[in-house]
Amino acid sequence: MYEDTINFIRSIYGAETSIPLHEPQFIGNEKRYLNECIDSTFVSSVGKFVDEFEDQIAKYTGANYAIATSNGTSALHLSLLLANVTKNDEVITQSLTFVASCNAINYCGAIPIFIDVDKDTMGLSPTALQAFLEKNTTVVDQQCFNKNTGRVIKACVPMHTFGHPCRIDDIKNICDKYKILLIEDAAESLGSFYKGKHTGTFGQMGVISFNGNKIITAGGGGCIITNDEVLAKRAKHMSTTAKVPHKWKYTHDMIGYNYRMPNLNAALLLAQLENLESFLINKRQLAATYKDFFATNKLCFFEEPLQSKSNYWLNTLVMSDKKERDSFLEYTNKHKVMTRPSWAPMHRLSMNLDYQSDELKNTNWLSERLVNIPSSALLTKSF
Ligand SMILES: Cc1ncc(COP(=O)(O)O)c(C=O)c1O
Repeated sequence: MYEDTINFIRSIYGAETSIPLHEPQFIGNEKRYLNECIDSTFVSSVGKFVDEFEDQIAKYTGANYAIATSNGTSALHLSLLLANVTKNDEVITQSLTFVASCNAINYCGAIPIFIDVDKDTMGLSPTALQAFLEKNTTVVDQQCFNKNTGRVIKACVPMHTFGHPCRIDDIKNICDKYKILLIEDAAESLGSFYKGKHTGTFGQMGVISFNGNKIITAGGGGCIITNDEVLAKRAKHMSTTAKVPHKWKYTHDMIGYNYRMPNLNAALLLAQLENLESFLINKRQLAATYKDFFATNKLCFFEEPLQSKSNYWLNTLVMSDKKERDSFLEYTNKHKVMTRPSWAPMHRLSMNLDYQSDELKNTNWLSERLVNIPSSALLTKSF
């Protein structure tokens, strides 16, 4: 039934065997930099590649500072701690996200509130956010109180789903109005811009992941980006066990975290970053090819939202209903073309069932219909 789709995907990737969802590409200076790193013996968290990578990622995103971390989840956790999110605070996020956004809130002892997404961005809806805050909160002494629970809503964590920017400027304006700190989960959206500005740079802090499936990777890794010098310095301090700098003494002035990125990972990432532009061009060409194909194929291809330039990290189809989604997943995976549904929404996970939410209409609608299809950049292919 979906034979033409499979044949088309095989014609792109030219693979007789399995086609993965997203494969990393190591085509540049990766081995050279790794060898340099090994030869220098600076394989751990001190070394020139970490500093250089932080400089380069800040430069690329347009943020004033970047702080490399062990992964995106630790970057999210640290950002929330830096936003002073503590036990019994509330944090708004979307339910249509990877579990890490929600876990990081829980690590702080805080309580997530799930607000709906927009159908055309798959990211947090400013309309739904405004409606929730207007109905349920009051601002007293520069703090936003949830009238239902009496708790403070400290932060908001929207996510740029599959690399597509959400309406982040509207979300920022609403957060400012309600005195809520904005932390962007830009884990999936390195190389994605909204109204010409890189995702992750609208809020007080943004978080990027370099996990194995992301557009550039070091196997594992993450970073916080921010324009705030004080936050940047605290982030570096807290992620490096809060060690007080000294030539030989080991003193720590607070409970810190071992969330630093090893020099080895930074070496790999620096090489990956040098090829980001070609990955982006290639992935956008792939998306355009998919778009043309699915225009004549009756399946609905998800296109980048208006006023955005997306990295098209994972290409996405919106199926007509759950039944069609499941039969597509069944057929494609049976024929070794890897496809996958979106995550089970956070409000349906057993540990999150008691949390407050709005109606989550679009979240429920989308989560039954979304399917990611093979999306690896293919640098040997000219479209
Ligand atoms: C939306 C989102 N947030 C957070 C993360 C966590 O990043 P990491 O896997 O690097 O911890 C990921 C991906 O892995 C993600 O997709």
